[in-house]
Amino acid sequence: MTLDTLPATDRRTALVAALTAPKGFGDQTLRDRRPDAIELLGGIPDPAALPAAALAESAARVLAEPGLPALQYSRTEGIPALREWIARREGVPVSRVIVTNGGFHGLALAIQTTVERGELVAVDNPIFPLFLRGLELSDARTLPVRVGRDGLDLDELESHLHSGVRPAALYTVPDFHNPSQGSLPLEKRRELVRLAEHYGFVVFADNPYRELRFEGPAPHEEPFNHSERVIHVNTFTKTLGPGLRLGWLVLPEGRARDVVALRSRQDSHSSTLVESVIADFLTHDDGVFDRTLEGARALYAERARTLAGALEREAPGVFEIDVPLGGLFLWPRLRDDSIDADRLADDASAEGVEYQRGSFFPSGPGTDAARHLRLAFGDTPAERLAEAAARIGRAVRRQL
Ligand SMILES: Cc1ncc(COP(=O)(O)O)c(C=O)c1O
Repeated sequence: MTLDTLPATDRRTALVAALTAPKGFGDQTLRDRRPDAIELLGGIPDPAALPAAALAESAARVLAEPGLPALQYSRTEGIPALREWIARREGVPVSRVIVTNGGFHGLALAIQTTVERGELVAVDNPIFPLFLRGLELSDARTLPVRVGRDGLDLDELESHLHSGVRPAALYTVPDFHNPSQGSLPLEKRRELVRLAEHYGFVVFADNPYRELRFEGPAPHEEPFNHSERVIHVNTFTKTLGPGLRLGWLVLPEGRARDVVALRSRQDSHSSTLVESVIADFLTHDDGVFDRTLEGARALYAERARTLAGALEREAPGVFEIDVPLGGLFLWPRLRDDSIDADRLADDASAEGVEYQRGSFFPSGPGTDAARHLRLAFGDTPAERLAEAAARIGRAVRRQL
């Protein structure tokens, strides 16, 4: 038998054979079967919040440049103009910024440069489940740490560390947590950095929602950008569009070298064209990014309030609802234990609305995520959100 005649599956690596099938994302959706369905499934930005016209102008400018540098190879770290803009915004030297193909790619690079096979990684509980999928490549073990209204529970983490548990890394979403919406206060960020430095683990701070803050200025100080023990992961996905596949890492200098070494054996660099268009967009008209964010924040803040208000009207007292202070999700909790959360999701689907069940998100025991609904409001207009709440209300009444 020659290699060519072997069935394809016999040529799979053990690495690929050990991977589980992706669950929960990319499945067939209700809208495929029912055109009036309302899907509150993913953290997707609204097209109206994305600066399409300005990006088109940037693309035209970039493609008119003599010699067409945007269609050529470029550096593994990212093109200088983009790295410089990011470095200024993050308040770090350019040498610590590496451009990536989005947040998930940044997480994969963080994992692959930090975690040995089989090592322990402390993770949010509940957790953004794609991170666990990324960890499968390292066959890592996980240590769930509770996340609440103030983000990661540092007391729980500290008690593990005191008792001798030694994770190689810790994964958390520090701002407008996905799914549970909490944010880690400044004092706790400092404390987490102190713990990482003392106990020798690396923090993967995954921050895609940071810029979608509904009120007030961003905190002045960001401890995650000033430690040898933190990889700060970010992306343009939620602000300029997931289809760009563009993000960045802020890393300690030594780790930046490791990431470049790894990537120069993989994809070489992110798309020069996409990097060039975004760099032109960010620098041609100073302030355009912040104006884009202002529009997005106002839109999402209104949608969050609309959905929370409509849910309270349509199902009075049924949910405990914290109106989020940023991000793209509502995370209401069912107060009444006699309401079955799985049946509610099925009934809501029958009524024509789909959302992500909270039971999709735990990384271990000790969370009440299964009693929650994750309702994504980013790409659904206010009147459709009100209709979605009415449908959820009808689904709730099927059980009362
Ligand atoms: C917490 C979190 N991390 C990472 C990502 C992935 O971002 P990207 O699309 O840039 O890979 C998302 C997207 O939903 C997210 O919610």
